[in-house]
Amino acid sequence: MYKPQPLRNHDEDVEHGHDSEEAQQRHAHALQMCLLSAFLLIFLAGTAYHTKPLPLRSPLQQLQRRDNQKYNCNLTLVESIPIGLNFTPGSPHFPSTFDAWDQLLNLTKSTLDIGSYYWTLRGEDTGLNHSTAHPGEQIFQRLLANGVGDGPKIKIRIAQSSPSRVSPDLETQILASYGAAEVVTLDFPKYLGAGILHTKLWIVDNEHFYLGSANMDWRALTQVKELGVLGRNCPQLTSDLAKIFKAYWYLGSNENARIPSSWPYDYGTNYNLEQPMMLNVLKDANTNYTMQAFAASSPPPLSATGRTHDLTAILNSINSALQFVHISVMDYFPLIIFGPKLQYWAEIDNALRTAAVERGVSVKLLISWWKHSDASMDNYLRSLQDLSMTSRQHVDIQIRRFIVPADEDQQKIPFGRVNHNKYMVTDRVAYIGTSNWSGDYFTTTAGIGLVFKDTQPSAAASLRNDLVSIFNRDWNSAFAKELS
Ligand SMILES: *[C@@H]1O[C@H](CO)[C@@H](O)[C@H](O)[C@H]1NC(C)=O
Ligand SMILES: *[C@@H]1O[C@H](CO)[C@@H](O)[C@H](O)[C@H]1NC(C)=O
Ligand SMILES: *[C@@H]1O[C@H](CO)[C@@H](O)[C@H](O)[C@H]1NC(C)=O
Ligand SMILES: *[C@@H]1O[C@H](CO)[C@@H](O)[C@H](O)[C@H]1NC(C)=O
Ligand SMILES: *[C@@H]1O[C@H](CO)[C@@H](O)[C@H](O)[C@H]1NC(C)=O
Repeated sequence: MYKPQPLRNHDEDVEHGHDSEEAQQRHAHALQMCLLSAFLLIFLAGTAYHTKPLPLRSPLQQLQRRDNQKYNCNLTLVESIPIGLNFTPGSPHFPSTFDAWDQLLNLTKSTLDIGSYYWTLRGEDTGLNHSTAHPGEQIFQRLLANGVGDGPKIKIRIAQSSPSRVSPDLETQILASYGAAEVVTLDFPKYLGAGILHTKLWIVDNEHFYLGSANMDWRALTQVKELGVLGRNCPQLTSDLAKIFKAYWYLGSNENARIPSSWPYDYGTNYNLEQPMMLNVLKDANTNYTMQAFAASSPPPLSATGRTHDLTAILNSINSALQFVHISVMDYFPLIIFGPKLQYWAEIDNALRTAAVERGVSVKLLISWWKHSDASMDNYLRSLQDLSMTSRQHVDIQIRRFIVPADEDQQKIPFGRVNHNKYMVTDRVAYIGTSNWSGDYFTTTAGIGLVFKDTQPSAAASLRNDLVSIFNRDWNSAFAKELS
């Protein structure tokens, strides 16, 4: 029987980056560091005459030193489970997306930034007056209340993708016209020839955040299956996410803005794949544990100095797995679909094949199926699953389609009843993203991935283990079907 070879240590894997783009970025980064330290040297040399002698550590060392500080952060997974999708009693259960947003609104003292794709929180914006739109409408009314009445105001900023015929974004027009929020629109075709803002991010007071799959859509609270992460009292990670939002805001708030060839220094980050942030995660009153974390961004032109690309984060998570890679995404295509012509794009596909064939890693993909699914996806999925064998060597790739059940009334809801999750969990990391897995989402479309890594091998109560429990619940449920 095939046994996976013991790997070199993890950091070594990290060092030998997986794509040349990353290497280039590192070179650029190093060059910038050199220039910066040269400036600092000149500056420090100037000040040294007037002040007491400086410590002998070079400025470069100071900039690149490992940040050993641990930052407190309350972290919890949050989910939307569509009404009528009932798991067996006793299954893992997490707070709802609605509760997360409601709580974020309760916590807001002065600022709320929302990075969003489109807005249909009200039933009427989807041509349907459905009772299950109420939670979405309630969120909309709370945002609108910031513009009407004379209570204390908070500063709400919304970055959205260009409106389309299907999503004219009437709601953000209303919020803006009532003075409830400032709204900016990002036009990715103008910046990059294609793409959208696909991020789903809330940032409150630079202290609390939501990141996940849920759009600003009433269906995302009651009719679509979503997964995200809620961070509270988590200033360091939230401020880091805010730097990504800041880039959206820059692009959206300047009529003639183009993506700069390199972003100004204050958009950059010290937290990334190579140097993650250390979090002291407070789960509840009795549980705290250490995790490493960083936020990755796509597409690459939006990444300022130090920011890991979303694709790099995904590839590294797969490449560093020793036992298993479990993925739950809505769409999976080794293609760039929305470009001028169809392109084969096998970055993730190759990493999965390599993990399964060379390292004996068990790979499971839970992909969504709904009436809008492109049937050709099955061919790509079958081709991946077909590598599985137990005779000559052990190769384990299993794929299932998750189908959200719908009764007659639910079937009338346009674009509802689908598993919209976008995450991956391995024996080492939890990855929570906002992107479908096709090349478009890593070349032109904007999204964010959060990576959390256990520091103790078996932190039993960690967020990563919670994500494992969600994957297992879904994979083993009656709603997950074998590939046909
Ligand atoms: C938000 O505050 C309201 C009013 O105090 C409360 O009823 C509600 O339960 C809070 N929401 C959450 C999720 O804590
Ligand atoms: C939606 O339906 C409810 C009754 O089910 C009704 O009271 C309400 O006015 C309707 N709203 C719209 C916008 O049609
Ligand atoms: C964060 O977690 C700690 C410990 O469980 C708790 O005391 C605190 O109230 C939490 N903060 C928020 C905003 O939920
Ligand atoms: C976290 O747990 C450690 C012990 O495991 C304890 O010393 C520390 O005070 C705890 N931190 C918080 C913020 O609860
Ligand atoms: C990705 O997700 C959206 C919903 O967020 C869906 O409408 C779209 O068709 C998906 N697939 C691709 C390949 O973009």
